[in-house]
Amino acid sequence: MARIEIEGGVPLNGSVAVSGAKNAVLPILMASLLTDAPCRLKNVPHLKDVTTTIELLAQMGAEVGLADQFTIELDTAGVAHQEAPYDLVKTMRASVLVLGPLLGRFGKARVSLPGGCAIGARPVDQHLRGLAALGADVYVDAGYIVAEADRLHGANIVLDTATVTGTENIMMAAVTASGVTRIENAAQEPEVVDLADCLNSMGAQIEGAGSNTIVVHGGKPLSGYDFTVLPDRIEAGTFLVGAAMTGGHITTRRSNPRTLDAVLQKLEQAGAEINTGEDWIELDMHGCRPQAVDVTTAPYPGFPTDMQAQFTALNAIAEGTGVVRETVFENRFMHVLELQRLGADIRLEGNAVVIRGQPKLTGAPLMATDLRASAGLVLAGLVAEGTTVIDRVYHIDRGYENIEEKLGQLGARIRRYAARAA
Ligand code: EPU
Repeated sequence: MARIEIEGGVPLNGSVAVSGAKNAVLPILMASLLTDAPCRLKNVPHLKDVTTTIELLAQMGAEVGLADQFTIELDTAGVAHQEAPYDLVKTMRASVLVLGPLLGRFGKARVSLPGGCAIGARPVDQHLRGLAALGADVYVDAGYIVAEADRLHGANIVLDTATVTGTENIMMAAVTASGVTRIENAAQEPEVVDLADCLNSMGAQIEGAGSNTIVVHGGKPLSGYDFTVLPDRIEAGTFLVGAAMTGGHITTRRSNPRTLDAVLQKLEQAGAEINTGEDWIELDMHGCRPQAVDVTTAPYPGFPTDMQAQFTALNAIAEGTGVVRETVFENRFMHVLELQRLGADIRLEGNAVVIRGQPKLTGAPLMATDLRASAGLVLAGLVAEGTTVIDRVYHIDRGYENIEEKLGQLGARIRRYAARAA
């Protein structure tokens, strides 16, 4: 299995380009299933989850090719199997995002139930309830969610929780439904807005994306899309935290500061000087150690759960004591035991961790457990004295494009070892 090795102690310095947002790319690729016209998506990052999505669409009968390094062309006219099988869904839960578009275009979809997950139970009940409200017959058969409908109709749907992919699934089905759909308590994440913008570019009429009430005027004819995906706010945030932890000075290029307000405010509290422009963010720690910060995760515009592990790592080497509370997922502290192996002083208390910052961490072999937990470990490795080796790098590759190359550009001493022969 591939490993990443880091020699800690070098402040991050310089500038780095941010890739397209994984969590916008995935639903937008799935949205190509809504039309039999060709689609083209630009600014697509090279990630394992993107490859899995392409594999999923190709298994259904879609033609998928590369126009250039970062542009994917899709033609789903030949899709013949409306199914997402267990072997793909179990490696990527976002596969459930085919449910809405398949139901909308073909009137039927079979998607394996995702099962458990490293970061919590993660049910999909709100997706199913929303699709049922639009008129679908939804049931579970042999481990698969089956959704069927002769036609869908608009409905008023109040979500129990502001689920991101649930909002996206319901929105994609609703654009094909007759009449008006209102989704209340909708997720307000920038990636939901990007999907709505893409659907509108196809001819859909969606209002209110980015607020907690989304209104879809359904039944409009849908063409293909030629769309550029927004920058990845979590990748940008991860590099910025890395610079804050190492006393560095970096600029993230091709990044959108307006999607990172909560994170940038916490970094300022930690002592960083932040300057922003239209598509860049500059962070300067002036060589100082960060101050500990308290963080509570919440749906957007609150502090993102996908940045929680990185701030746990920051607090581990900060001055003072920080409390990090996780309110979105119930089991997202897998990185804590690994950080303790580097000498971090962290106490788990229910859904929170209390972290007493240490003047130094010491390198050790670590195991990546999930995507964002791994990002926290990489950041800790950047400050730990000596060598940190992170195993199970495939978790990182799901969501970070060439992380070792990009951190290397910023001066980190980091390298990847290829898989050892068995
Ligand atoms: N929930 C339910 N019922 C549902 C759906 C969700 O109870 O039907 C609960 C979940 O269990 C969780 C909360 O609602 O406690 C929020 O989950 P949400 O559905 O919003 O998460 P998601 O859509 O499965 C997306 C991102 C995640 C990100 C979360 C929260 C994608 C593909 N994934 O997941 O990204 O953490 O929103 O912002 O968009 C990652 O990139 O590493 C990642 C995990």
